[in-house]
Amino acid sequence: MAPEIAKITGETVRADFNSINAVLHYARAAHFLGLWESERILIGKYFPDCGARLLEAGCGAGRVTAGLWHMGYRHITGFDFAEELLDQARNLATEQGIAGLKFLHADATRLGDCHIINDSAFDGALFLFNGLMQIPGRENRQTALRGLHRACQTGAHLIFTTHDRNDDPVERAKWQREAEAWACGEQAPRLLEFGDRYFAHEHGQTFMHLPDRAEILADLAATSWTHVEDTMRREVASESRAVRDFSDECRFWVAIKI
Ligand SMILES: C[S@@+](CC[C@H](N)C(=O)[O-])C[C@H]1O[C@@H](n2cnc3c(N)ncnc32)[C@H](O)[C@@H]1O
Repeated sequence: MAPEIAKITGETVRADFNSINAVLHYARAAHFLGLWESERILIGKYFPDCGARLLEAGCGAGRVTAGLWHMGYRHITGFDFAEELLDQARNLATEQGIAGLKFLHADATRLGDCHIINDSAFDGALFLFNGLMQIPGRENRQTALRGLHRACQTGAHLIFTTHDRNDDPVERAKWQREAEAWACGEQAPRLLEFGDRYFAHEHGQTFMHLPDRAEILADLAATSWTHVEDTMRREVASESRAVRDFSDECRFWVAIKI
């Protein structure tokens, strides 16, 4: 009998983000790319008070965290489960003379274990550059959404991004073929759910779940978040070549805790 092939887990993803090529990639972006224009616009729109206590999930090497500081926010807590990226984030803050950013080692699917991330401690939360979709398993992504909901106080906004597998007609055709593979059990054996991808590129291996819009709307509703808006990035801002080289088109999601 052929040996069973192990599914991708959070551990697989953490190891991939801790790999040297991934660390270099995200550290470079944190130092030289900074916030995307679309991120800056939506952050300014939904977090108008620079005194807001913000929680950034999946902060990586600090690209967004440092960007928030430079926008004027002063109460920012970033967390990530990849220790090597967190080291980079702390170095970046030191190098830029930023004191007061809090970086925590925490897993978005186990926020209850992190005593610093208390109930209702934050006025807003972010999970940018598709980090939420790098959590394998829909239930685990919902657990992360619930944890962020608990960490925020009433009236807080959550901003995050995902791909949208229905956005591009060429991609749509590929997903149609992928659906047929799943229907007859011929999908890649390490994947958990339709919509998952695990691919190699110059900065290592990446797991990504690509949802459709209905899936995210259902997940927000299931985790007590109220949908506010969702918009493709190109409709928010025209990004520089450097940003487009770093990151594919994505959908921004904004939800509120009521
Ligand atoms: C695409 S990277 C984005 C990093 C950074 N926010 C940026 O925009 O450059 C996604 C980040 O999410 C983190 N991440 C993924 N799953 C996580 C989890 N379960 N808990 C905490 N962080 C997680 C990864 O370690 C990685 O740093």
